[in-house]
Amino acid sequence: MADALLTLSGVVAGYGPVTVLDRLDLQVRTGDRLAVIGRNGVGKTTMLRAVMGLASMRAGTIRFDGRDLARLQPHERAHLGIGYVPQTRDVFPSLTVEENLVAGLKGRPRSAVEEAYALFPRLAERRRNGGMQLSGGEQQMLSVARALLGQPRLLLLDEPLEGLAPLIRGELLVAFRRIQGMTVVIVEQQVQEALGYADRAVVLERGTVAHEDDATALANDHATLERLVGVAVH
Ligand SMILES: Nc1ncnc2c1ncn2[C@@H]1O[C@H](COP(=O)(O)OP(=O)(O)O)[C@@H](O)[C@H]1O
Ligand SMILES: [Mg+2]
Repeated sequence: MADALLTLSGVVAGYGPVTVLDRLDLQVRTGDRLAVIGRNGVGKTTMLRAVMGLASMRAGTIRFDGRDLARLQPHERAHLGIGYVPQTRDVFPSLTVEENLVAGLKGRPRSAVEEAYALFPRLAERRRNGGMQLSGGEQQMLSVARALLGQPRLLLLDEPLEGLAPLIRGELLVAFRRIQGMTVVIVEQQVQEALGYADRAVVLERGTVAHEDDATALANDHATLERLVGVAVH
């Protein structure tokens, strides 16, 4: 078994007096593609935010590559190699596509933006367009591409397929599959698409892991999906 790249142990976190993550344990091994699913409000986004240092933790530890992240600011965690694509799609509306990409280079040569265009040809066509003029799908591509240009060792994706048409979701999934060797945690409500992409899956319920399985096995485990996610399975 490969080493754990990310380990959450007994994580308790929330907002003000509200506890959202309740003794959450989770391991992500190097090279894993982990899908995190679960009903609305169970704490999926909060879990990713805790990893980035954006949610206040009351107990537990989060380790990345063996290192305790507790004292590190969000930008320091990013610097260690954690790429985060928030649910809100992180695009600067007043900058062009290319300027948005340059903002993700972290000191790499400007020519590296071509990697983003190779992965998302739609962005190449839009390189001089403003962030504001992009469709939802293009914004999501830009948000993912910018995170990738920083060459993260771990990529956290929060509902990257949300609100997008099936065709665009398909394009994003094709691109995700082309990202080789990356360790990815993908939070999704598009359960079957996420399970088709991932190799392992966990289901969160009330801020903790209620179920864990091979992604293909869970995709076929309709009873568990209905019980814990409430999806109508087809
Ligand atoms: N900024 C916030 N302030 C207070 N409560 C929040 C905040 N963000 C999320 N919550 C609450 O925390 C719970 C978990 O939210 P979240 O992690 O966003 O769930 P999920 O991503 O699984 O839908 C929900 O009950 C939500 O209302
Ligand atoms: Mg969420």
